[in-house]
Amino acid sequence: MKKRWWKESVIYQIYPRSFKDSNGDGIGDLRGIVEKLDYIKELGIDIIWLSPIYKSPNDDNGYDISDYQDIMNEFGTLEDFEVLLSEAHKRNLKIVMDLVVNHSSDEHKWFIESKKSRDNPYRDYYIWKDGKGEKPPNNWGSFFSGSAWQYDKTTEMYYLHLFSPKQPDLNWENPAVRKEIYDMMKWWLDKGIDGFRMDVINMISKNQAYPDGLKDEEDLYGNKIPYVINGSRVHEFLQEMNSEVLSKYDIMTVGETGGVTPEEVIKYVGENRKELNMVFQFQHVDLGSGENGKWDDLPFELLSLKKIMTRWQKLEDEGWNSLYWNNHDQPRAVSRFGNDEEYWQESAKMLATCLHMMRGTPYIYQGEEIGMTNVAFVSLEDYRDLETLNAFKELVEEKGKDPKVMMQAIYSRSRDNARTPVQWDTSQNAGFTSGTPWIKVNPNYKKLNVNVQLNDENSILNYYKKIIKLRKDHPIIIYGEYELILADNPHIYAYIRILNKHKLLVICSFTKEHTVFELPDNITHKCVKLLINNYKVADDDIKKMELRPYEARVYLLES
Ligand code: GLC
Ligand code: CA
Repeated sequence: MKKRWWKESVIYQIYPRSFKDSNGDGIGDLRGIVEKLDYIKELGIDIIWLSPIYKSPNDDNGYDISDYQDIMNEFGTLEDFEVLLSEAHKRNLKIVMDLVVNHSSDEHKWFIESKKSRDNPYRDYYIWKDGKGEKPPNNWGSFFSGSAWQYDKTTEMYYLHLFSPKQPDLNWENPAVRKEIYDMMKWWLDKGIDGFRMDVINMISKNQAYPDGLKDEEDLYGNKIPYVINGSRVHEFLQEMNSEVLSKYDIMTVGETGGVTPEEVIKYVGENRKELNMVFQFQHVDLGSGENGKWDDLPFELLSLKKIMTRWQKLEDEGWNSLYWNNHDQPRAVSRFGNDEEYWQESAKMLATCLHMMRGTPYIYQGEEIGMTNVAFVSLEDYRDLETLNAFKELVEEKGKDPKVMMQAIYSRSRDNARTPVQWDTSQNAGFTSGTPWIKVNPNYKKLNVNVQLNDENSILNYYKKIIKLRKDHPIIIYGEYELILADNPHIYAYIRILNKHKLLVICSFTKEHTVFELPDNITHKCVKLLINNYKVADDDIKKMELRPYEARVYLLES
């Protein structure tokens, strides 16, 4: 396995709007991030990934960009950005930016031009089609509810938007679009940023026939997925981007690639492909989805989780993983995969252990390091996320779903679970803002906040510090081979990592019951060292051990 700095790093994702407000307007900002760089450094982080900070009308909180070379008014100025970058670099923290180029905002100057006339020079920057009679060009639905096509009366045509109507899809078939994007990327890289996280990057090549998708009777829209993900030119585009831009800098890249399988992914991240360094796969976070996708909210099975993670751990052709439990689009890890009540602390530490000992680059989403939990606002009015609000409308008002059941689904799956402000201390609004926060703070902040945990040796926060430090001290955590053990055990996720004479034994209980772990006979060893654990452990007999609720232990074995 080739050594690379981005394989050895731990990444911290910041969703700036909810991180830290420095000027009392209720919205997190760049100066707020600067205030907290020391905190992030102390945690042991190497790289910060910033969710979009570009100019945006905020239909989708910055994932709708109206100027790629300027900063969102609420977040600050380009000058503030320069300060952030240099303060980060001073502390040896790298900055990775979000790159949202499947679509722009409808307020981007390209789109404003594009919609003016059929022969505008920017017309082909976007995807315009004639309707079929009174109907849109095809039956695709958008990821944010409704049709994926928006009629525009100026030219009497429709444009494609896989997300909201304020996020028109860029036309990657047009070489002029690609050149604009590459130039913009170079502009940021020349400022000294350290890489990109690429938003829905496996959707940039669409099937040019734009066929209708399969549709069951009860469906409102046809299935667009086969025609928009992993399209026929996606690898050509990424290789072009790599040779024009990426290969010229010492940076890292991670693509967001929903729907990609461990077989398919090698085309994106294989050592010799010259495309991306790693991707975010979705198979483990799609567990528990049903016919209505995430809004069906079914329980997840540990056996399925183990199977999925294990397959990804064994990628061919030196393919490298990103490791994550949650991000700004997903519910809070401890609420979803752990237990946010009685065993909140134990299970949050267990989840950290289970993920950070795997092979890949771990990502921590802001607040995860203190075990922030999902939120349950009584009123729909307190929700801000357009995906959540649109889904409520579509499923309840158009498809007749019980609103109470839908609220429960929102409590477990809404993206706003991740977007409540970071809980810094016990002061008003959890120390996030002196004003009125753009979204309410989770009411549990008096007990659950950074300040309390900084002062508690046994806190989740201090556990994260330890586990991050382990990675720096033990190359086996980065470069060791992975083997699942006890594959059929429905309560324990246990695996070993192997490097030369060493083995790392990772044992994680995913249940609130007591359960027994027995070491398989073929794992032999001479000496044993306990590296980290979330309960007090009396002895080193690893042959057989009783595990307490959500217990986690990591042993280093030498043979
Ligand atoms: C990605 C982002 C998500 C955004 C969507 C459209 O999935 O992570 O937050 O809404 O793309 O840009
Ligand atoms: Ca602010």
